Amino acid sequence: MKKLLKTLTETFSPSGYEDAIREVIRKEIKPLADEIRVDALGNLIVRKGKGGKRIMVAAHMDEIGIIASHVDDNGFVRFEGVGGVMSRHLIGGRVRFINGTVGVIGSQRGKENSMEDMFIDVGATSKKDCPVKAGDIAAFERPFTDMGSRWVAKSMDDRIGVLVAIEALRALKSTPNEVYFVFTTQEEIGTRGATTSAFEINPDIGIAIDVTISADTPQAMKMDVGLGKGPAIKIKDSGMISDPRVVQWMEKTAEKAKIPYQREVLGGGTTDARSIQMARAGVPVGCISIPCRYVHSPSEMVDENDVKNSVKLLTLLLKTESKNFGSL
Ligand code: CO
Ligand code: ZN
Repeated sequence: MKKLLKTLTETFSPSGYEDAIREVIRKEIKPLADEIRVDALGNLIVRKGKGGKRIMVAAHMDEIGIIASHVDDNGFVRFEGVGGVMSRHLIGGRVRFINGTVGVIGSQRGKENSMEDMFIDVGATSKKDCPVKAGDIAAFERPFTDMGSRWVAKSMDDRIGVLVAIEALRALKSTPNEVYFVFTTQEEIGTRGATTSAFEINPDIGIAIDVTISADTPQAMKMDVGLGKGPAIKIKDSGMISDPRVVQWMEKTAEKAKIPYQREVLGGGTTDARSIQMARAGVPVGCISIPCRYVHSPSEMVDENDVKNSVKLLTLLLKTESKNFGSL
């Protein structure tokens, strides 16, 4: 599992450029799937089972990154964020452009809080010899680190969700339901891949698998979510209120299997579940969140047990017999 996570997190795939990660995932799930297809926006749609409830499980493939907006006469690259990039995480960091060029992020003195006053140094001395041009996209460059029971990487958001979905598919073997695992594109810039794939799949129930903030660091926000205390069952975020029946289904399933869980109310941000919920005439949705420290930094941290328990919970949910869905 760790080896796969290392590959997933170190693969280059900022929003809109998910080709590389899609091929890594496709190779992994090929022997496990009943049907695989890719839609026009690049979503990788994987079906398992036939009949029963149509359940869409979404984990986004894309990661936040930056895009070159201008190269000055001295070969310094100006840039914008792609997705929720925070300037405080940038200075001294490295990025890798789509053509392989690596750059270091620097800033003007005294203007360390403004992305507009930052630049990327790719080792060029003029605009002419700069290997990067306006419109070139880049991802953050940082290796996966194993700290024992805690794992750190860039793009843990949401490659850890991708890993949970893959491992649940592996563990599932068979299901009484028609499950669509969707590895979505462009989540970080407005859950766009989930919007189109949910329209096409037309599910009865939607589940997003994504990270949430772990509020157990010094002076963190007040939130009942910490690392190592189990998957977080989302009640609400700033874009979505989970269907209470889905929340109940998740909680009951966790309790029956003695899987620890936490109840998540997240002040900012949302997930693919928002787009699934509002697809066509509407879909009851929920979200399993993997608690994560330093979300949207190049060092996102998760806990091994939370990951394993998320796989367990998702697998059990997908095995639910039709008589046990209640009013869903
Ligand atoms: Co994110
Ligand atoms: Zn995410």
